[in-house]
Parts: sequence; structure tokens; C-alpha cells
Amino acid sequence: MTDEEIRQKTKNLLIANTRQGHNVEIEKDYCYISPSPSTYPYQWFWDTCFHVFILCALGDYDLAKRNMESLFTMQLEDGFVGHMLFWESTFVNHVLTFVQSKPHPRVYIPHMSSIIQPPLAAQAALRIYEHTKDKNLLSEILPKLKRYHWWLRVNRDFEGNGLLSIISPFESGMDFKPSFDEVLNFKHGIANELLFEDVLWVDVRNFLNNYDLKKIYKENYFIVKEVGFNTFYTLDLLAMAQLCKADQDQEELLYKKLAKKVTDSMRDLMYDEEEAAYFDIYGNDNKKIRIITPTIFFPAVLPDIPLSSVRSMIDRHLANTKEFVTNYPIPSDSMDDPAFQPNEAIYLWRGPTWIIFNWMLYRSLLTKGYEKFGERIYQSMHRLIEKSGFREYYNPFTGEGYGAKNFTWSGLIVDMINIRRELNST
Ligand code: GLC
Repeated sequence: MTDEEIRQKTKNLLIANTRQGHNVEIEKDYCYISPSPSTYPYQWFWDTCFHVFILCALGDYDLAKRNMESLFTMQLEDGFVGHMLFWESTFVNHVLTFVQSKPHPRVYIPHMSSIIQPPLAAQAALRIYEHTKDKNLLSEILPKLKRYHWWLRVNRDFEGNGLLSIISPFESGMDFKPSFDEVLNFKHGIANELLFEDVLWVDVRNFLNNYDLKKIYKENYFIVKEVGFNTFYTLDLLAMAQLCKADQDQEELLYKKLAKKVTDSMRDLMYDEEEAAYFDIYGNDNKKIRIITPTIFFPAVLPDIPLSSVRSMIDRHLANTKEFVTNYPIPSDSMDDPAFQPNEAIYLWRGPTWIIFNWMLYRSLLTKGYEKFGERIYQSMHRLIEKSGFREYYNPFTGEGYGAKNFTWSGLIVDMINIRRELNST
């Protein structure tokens, strides 16, 4: 398939998955892209940001803006935005979806869930701004993003060290990530119904606690500082600084300082030099969870991480044939982890390949001395799409497509095509 064919297919998919209209109950317009209409009909927080990156790479800035606007249409006074926005499909059809929202009296009115997802919204807004230099967009979106970041700091930096905690496995965006097993008291290994019950129980308890964060923190049944989430958070703070700069807003410095604080705390509390890995931490004593998943090297993308650490993480793990080197990288769990399971399953993120890892690391690999590796993960995505189409996730050995169909995320390859062209021409 040529780059142009991939771009065209991606464009067709995003257009086909677009949902737009006017809701008379709340008198608001909406426009969002469902990640996969049959499996995931709602608007999702980080999915929306991925869609913005894809749309910008395709040059459809107008649709990108409208998706971004809808993401903040239901923002609460205090700045909160939930991880799922129920526009057209307001009737929830799954017990998890039900308990992930505070009890809502009139379910047919658009509303949001009560949990969050990795913060990429400032990065998405910045991407649109970089392409369009649209000052109106800046003055509309920046105050909303500031309120959102304010909410994150006030409500999720429980200990004041800059790191944000998640209160549900789903907030990581990587629902059944194997490192959470220890926190959930699930015997680490291949997933089964007991894991599902443990995960569900966290959300049920949050629901019974009416999403009162002080109570949830005190009860401490699932308070995790996750590496992936905090890496995206740092990048978002840096994007906030850039947006402020573009708007000649003095808060630029505040966001830069915050980004440094988070990076420092990640290094102090999560990094293990001997193992060359950043580990998720939990509990009052910030205990490290020593499970090898791709997030252990996510901080390699941060500007303030020394090149020597980046090299150790990549050489020891990403390039390790016992851990992540497969025919179709990057698997979502290390091959030598007892939880590793490469096939289709309801327990997501425990072995198969999700292409966001490839997308997330691509630019850094190319610019930090790993051109060959970057090319491998790019070609892997190409081959996955050619072989199995746009699927939610793939078998890391055979490339077989699994999970939701007509799934948008594989379209992130168009952003990688642009990065590849950009770096080849410099
Ligand atoms: C799954 C993924 C989550 C994503 C959602 C919609 O739950 O784990 O990250 O946002 O699907 O695509």
C-alpha cells in the first residue's frame, strides 16, 4: 500500500465514524469521531486527541477543531472533563460504563463519565495551532485547558509532589495493564474472571463513594501513579507552556516549572537505575511495581531525561529479544512476563500490539540515535494495516487483527508518515 492509499483509507474511516448534530436537551452542537461505532460508540477523551493528531496530519483542521470543541462542551465549572462523553448513545449498555459515571437522574441527557484519561488535550490543541496559527482558537481553548489542568493539580496531585494519581485502572487508558495486578490483589499471571471482578470492584467502590476523591484517597484501594499517565501529563504541561507563549500569557513559566517538577519526581520515585526502568508506584510508601510493560521506557520521550538513561532503557528493554522484539512490535507486555498473552481477549493490554506505543515513541527513536528501530516500528504498522486492516489491536507474532473493527487509532500512521518526511528532509 502506498502512503497515499493509507492516507485515503484513514480519511475515509474517520469520516465514516464521525457523529455530529445538535442536542435539544442541552442546546449544544456536537461533533466527534467514534473510535469504532459498533464497539465504542461514545466520544472518548484521549481517543479524541489521537483523532486530532490524525486529522491535522491529513490537513483537515476544521474537523479537528470541531472535535476539540465538543470535548470541552460539557466541561464542569471546576474544570473537570470525563473520559467518556455520551452524546447520541446516552443509554449505557455495560455495567462498567454504568459505574464509571456518578448516578445520573436522566440518562437520556448527554453527560460525562466521572473518571479521566491520560491528558493529551493541550498537545492536541497545540498541534492545531501550529498548523493554523488560529488566534481565535487559542483564546477560546486556552482558558478551558487551564481550568482542566487546574482540576488535575488540585484533585489528583494528592501528595503535592507534582505526580498525578489514577483511581481506576481505566484511567490509564490501558485497562487491564499487568502492573495493576499487585494493587488489585490479583495473583500476577494470565488473566481470568477474578481479574475482571477485581477491576470491576474498584469502579463499584468509586461509584459507591460517589466519586468523592478525598474518601477514595483515604480508603486507598486503588491509588496509582502510573508512568504512562504522568509522561503524557508532562508533555501536556510543556504544550500548555507553548500555548501560553503563543498567547503572550505569563503562565508559560508556571507550566514549565510544573513540567520540571513532575519529571524530577518521576526520576526520584519511579526510576530504577539498575533495572533501567520507570515503574508505576502505589500506596502511602510509593511502592514500585516491578513489572516490565512498554511504559517503563515511555519517559524516553521527555526532553529532560538524560540521553544515557534513554539509551539504557531502549537497549535493555525495547531492543531486548526476550522482552519486546517480535515480528510486529511493540507488544503491550514483556514476552517474559507471566501475564503475557498475545491473543484476543477481553482482558486488554496484556500482550498484543497496540499501535499507540509505536506512535508515541517514533519521533524520539528517530532523533535519539535509534533510526533503524524507528524504521522497524513504522514498517510494522504498515504491514499490520496491510495484513489486517484498521483493528483495535494485533497479534505481535502473526499480525492477526483483534478486537474492535474499523478502529481509528491505526490511522496515527499518517502522523508518522509526516514525521518521517519531515526528518528525512532536514
Ligand atoms: C478501550 C481502551 C481505551 C480507549 C477505549 C475507546 O477501553 O483501553 O484506552 O479509550 O477503548 O477506544
